[in-house]
Amino acid sequence: MAPIIDTSKKPIVWVLGGPGSGKGTQCEKIIAKYGFTHLSTGDLLRAEVKSGSERAKTLTAIMEQGGLVPNDVVLELLKEAIVSRAADSKGFLVDGYPREKSQGIAFEQAIAPVSVIIYFEASSETLTKRLLGRAASSGRADDNEETIKLRLKTFLDNNQQVLDQYPDKISRINAEASVDTIFDEVQKILDPLVVGA
Ligand code: AP5
Repeated sequence: MAPIIDTSKKPIVWVLGGPGSGKGTQCEKIIAKYGFTHLSTGDLLRAEVKSGSERAKTLTAIMEQGGLVPNDVVLELLKEAIVSRAADSKGFLVDGYPREKSQGIAFEQAIAPVSVIIYFEASSETLTKRLLGRAASSGRADDNEETIKLRLKTFLDNNQQVLDQYPDKISRINAEASVDTIFDEVQKILDPLVVGA
């Protein structure tokens, strides 16, 4: 099937990293500078849960257990969002996807090849500390000690397989650093993709 996005004009960037690695934080800065369309699979799923749709209950249960919702659900939400913004988007920032090997394969078949993958790397201790710090204010049902452990386990069980699949497209960034230092590294990766950045 032909790609539904011309990535020579609208790059597709996957943003990967463990829970709390700063994907959302860095995506905000990337949007401000590059004007990309931000698609966080976590946000798309939370919106679906709020909509009270038929599948919302199942999704809630999976997310509260820190597990992965079925691939077809995530890909459908992503594809709908990409198609609806394809005409006016400058590029897509896909945050939190793929989380397992088969998600990456399915995305590239259904949408287009990924241009670049940014991977934010941090220790489990740092990730846990950040999420527990955020728990007081986030209002997220999965920001509690028990679910954070399960989210980390899900991430550690799947992440290496995802990384192994794209050795030539991954740029690793040390996500233990400050927000601004990390963004300096992000810009070194994205500037070459964007003419005039
Ligand atoms: P999702 O919403 O994507 O959650 P997550 O991956 O656990 O990541 P977070 O959003 O919690 O953290 P983040 O990396 O964005 O960090 P943030 O910038 O907020 O997914 C939720 C659930 O949805 C999943 O568990 C799963 O069930 C489901 N799901 C999602 N995608 C799926 C998929 N593809 N397939 C199947 N299921 C899927 O930062 C965290 C905190 O740290 C903040 O307080 C921030 O201020 C702070 N911080 C950030 N950067 C720094 C820094 N450099 N130094 C110090 N503090 C920092």
